[in-house]
Amino acid sequence: MINKKLTVKASQKGAKINKEIYGHFSEHLGRCIYNGIYVGEDSDIPNTRGMRNDVVEAMKEMGIPVLRWPGGCFADEYHWMNGIGPKESRVKMINTNWGGVTEDNSFGTHEFMDLCDQIGCEPYISGNVGSGTVREMSEWIEYMTSDNVSPMTDLRKRNGREKPWHLKYLGIGNENWGCGGFMTPEYYANQYRQFQQFCKNYGDNKLYKVACGPNGGDTAWTDKLMSMLNPMIAGAISLHFYTVPTGKWEDKGPATGFDEKLYNETIRETQKMEPIIMDHLAVMDRHDPDHKIGLAVDEWGCWYNVEEGTNPGFLYQQNTMRDAIVASVNLNIFNRHADRIVMANIAQVVNVLQSVILTEGSKMLKTPTYYVFKMYKPHQEAALVEAMLEDTAFDHDGISYTDVSVSASVKDDTLFVTLSNANLKESYTIDTVLDEAFGSYEARILTGAMGDHNTFDQPDNVFDKAYDGVKLSGKEASIVLPPVSVVTIAFKK
Ligand code: AHR
Repeated sequence: MINKKLTVKASQKGAKINKEIYGHFSEHLGRCIYNGIYVGEDSDIPNTRGMRNDVVEAMKEMGIPVLRWPGGCFADEYHWMNGIGPKESRVKMINTNWGGVTEDNSFGTHEFMDLCDQIGCEPYISGNVGSGTVREMSEWIEYMTSDNVSPMTDLRKRNGREKPWHLKYLGIGNENWGCGGFMTPEYYANQYRQFQQFCKNYGDNKLYKVACGPNGGDTAWTDKLMSMLNPMIAGAISLHFYTVPTGKWEDKGPATGFDEKLYNETIRETQKMEPIIMDHLAVMDRHDPDHKIGLAVDEWGCWYNVEEGTNPGFLYQQNTMRDAIVASVNLNIFNRHADRIVMANIAQVVNVLQSVILTEGSKMLKTPTYYVFKMYKPHQEAALVEAMLEDTAFDHDGISYTDVSVSASVKDDTLFVTLSNANLKESYTIDTVLDEAFGSYEARILTGAMGDHNTFDQPDNVFDKAYDGVKLSGKEASIVLPPVSVVTIAFKK
């Protein structure tokens, strides 16, 4: 058992933790949209206007504040007009990015907006810069948000939707340094200037535009973009950073059946998120000292080799306790930078990469990552408070990382602390000093062996439970963190 000290300043409220930090991402990729979320009205699987009831219920319980769509790389080959009107006459296309499968466009704008309504979340639309036109994006915004007399408003009404939808978040392209057009930052910045100009605010609807930001640690992209766009970006720039355990895209390592070395490498790799964020924020600060522009980490998560026997273009992977630790580490990082991180979207919500939900036919399971999001829900819209932990750097047979991750927030007189211990063998006791006295607490734990996961035959191997490893006495608490565990504590006055 290792003892470390934690000091929490519960009385000093900092930045609001935007609920959008707990966002998700749904792309026309593999079985994310089709079969995962949308099965169509005629399916035997219980659904509401085609959306799987079990999946929507699970998403609601977990608390999805914002959902990004339709991609990803798919967004820059998506032509929205193909996805409206009678389904039988919708144009079919090839999904060139993801498996070359036929996309029948039966899930389009109306279906996505309906999904967001059913979940109760904000839509985040990713517009097509790579292969689309300024007019096409402009008309999509008009179609969705205008209540005036206009060609697009009329078209929407003819397609059965009288009232405009509310749309706040709009991505102007995706990964335009890669699949979205292989552009230079100068070229993209000029594209951004032009495209955003024609995406109008109709009526009360105010767009929050997200420019395509860097790939991982590419601060040169951030620097050029900020120098050419500030103060034109009335929103955020994005950041994409995936955790690839081996650091090699050609062999990323398996999602299950991994050894301790690969586990430790995964934790070391995922902890790079914090220095990457800080490097970009430092560059952004030089151009935007008043912090008007936010950072949206709108793709993050673990990326492994696909499950054996599945379509390599579908990016289907299992999800273990290792992913739960990764989720906890990253969400704590985002919370700690709540003053600048406006949104984060784990990739992707169902059946793709680090999913919270997996489906197989009519069966559905919640992954360990799902339970972390559910456990962390009280952080949404709470005020960040400082949580200073003694250093827990540890050498794992030559692979060094920080074992314990933490963040804390306050809402309605409740102090909410989230911790995880990534160490495979050592337990920690966290001797906690609070600057205010609390009278009671409720704690929960998610723990198991590093490879533990849920299967369709055994969907309840891993889930969160009430936890009694916490002792509280006024301003002092002792918190035991077993190996490979995520613990949340709500301290009440
Ligand atoms: O999430 C899978 C893919 O990863 C997205 O389509 C793309 O934006 C990124 O490269």
